[in-house]
Amino acid sequence: MSMPQTTAVPNDLAAYWVPFTPNRAFKAAPRLIVGAKDMHYITADGRRVLDGSAGMWCCNAGHGRDPIVKAIQDEAARLDYAPPFQFAHPKAFELASRIAALAPGDLDQVFFCNSGSEAVDTALKIALAYHNVSGRGSRTRLIGRERGYHGVGFGGTAVGGIVANRKQFGTLLAGVDHLPHTYNREQQAFTKGEPEWGGHLADELERLVALHDASTIAAVIVEPTAGSTGVLPAPKGYLQKLRAICDRHGILLIFDEVITGFGRLGAAFAAERYGVVPDMITFAKGVTSGAVPMGGVIVRAPIYEAFMQGPPHVIELFHGYTYSAHPLACAAGIATLDVYRDEDLFARAKRLEPVWADAAMGLKGLPGVLDIRTVGLVAGIDLASLPDGFGRRAYAAMERAFADGMMFRITGDTVALSPPLIVSEAQIGEIFGTLATVIKAVM
Ligand SMILES: Cc1ncc(COP(=O)(O)O)c(C=O)c1O
Repeated sequence: MSMPQTTAVPNDLAAYWVPFTPNRAFKAAPRLIVGAKDMHYITADGRRVLDGSAGMWCCNAGHGRDPIVKAIQDEAARLDYAPPFQFAHPKAFELASRIAALAPGDLDQVFFCNSGSEAVDTALKIALAYHNVSGRGSRTRLIGRERGYHGVGFGGTAVGGIVANRKQFGTLLAGVDHLPHTYNREQQAFTKGEPEWGGHLADELERLVALHDASTIAAVIVEPTAGSTGVLPAPKGYLQKLRAICDRHGILLIFDEVITGFGRLGAAFAAERYGVVPDMITFAKGVTSGAVPMGGVIVRAPIYEAFMQGPPHVIELFHGYTYSAHPLACAAGIATLDVYRDEDLFARAKRLEPVWADAAMGLKGLPGVLDIRTVGLVAGIDLASLPDGFGRRAYAAMERAFADGMMFRITGDTVALSPPLIVSEAQIGEIFGTLATVIKAVM
């Protein structure tokens, strides 16, 4: 009997529809990854590539970390799956407690799902259901923000503010409005951390309240730093103002911390960095350091309590997923939180922030570098677009960098960097050194 052959490189690229990727260009020159350890990827042709983006903002503990690998292996052998409706397994409770302990204030309840998109749609549904069970059924409007990214579910796409993600998909959700985005290059260019200018843009929420009336608005959702549209840190005072306006009008405030959670901004959550307690936090990515898909929503105690009022045998929230709190994800999550704690990685990110920001700003003055923004261990670098197409310059930079041994994310003509939190100072130097070479090459 002949054995099936497995090779590192597939012999046919046709069947896989690659997400958020120009498929024809990719399949003509695929970037194939076959392994990963700590700060590096290994390519199909055996090269080591420095990970400047923690995969996709998720591998905060680095790759292939032994305790996480072992936890997943052990759990796969012990409990492959347990139904999450009407049944549960111990690690779901353990991980929920650990996450609640990291979250500020009375953000005490954790609802699990499998991705950031599901986390966002879950949070939006909880917001609507919370008002419904509280006798405020008229509060159905959801407010997002221009240039926001909240995943690809219908809810997240509707509150998101990226035209390319929206325009192919019809009318999405009804009753959604958007705050203006917070970026202004004239006022903010080359800022380290939170820009001085822009806090007043939170007042636009008052305008939306005046337009729609607070009694129709359920929730506002924002990323504390907008990641996917090119790293837009919150201006000073902006999130605090949003909180105050939401409080004034009984509107729930949701922080989408799918990127900013688990140390990315030098604290467990951005909510802690800004001293603002939202009503819900969505998370994903870093919770398992990307090793197993997982997402979730952390909910303030009074919201959960509002659901716990009816007869105790009745389901309180008709929502959940077959793979909510999957055993492998929970095992990976607990092991990941152990690594974050034992290696003090959130504090490490905070300590490295000034080194990182200085290194990023070292690119200022290179040809075609229009702006650099940094916050936590994140940087966004805007490159001048080519006359024949928006996005082509950054795409060329990404291709060139991968060939030169470094990976980063691109969005439009912005390069986005967010390394694993274990990055060394020497590797920070390597990241920006390689990027400088690449920028000179593609300009
Ligand atoms: C802020 C934010 N929300 C939601 C998502 C969606 O997460 P996922 O791709 O896991 O569905 C992302 C993904 O990048 C994100 O950055």
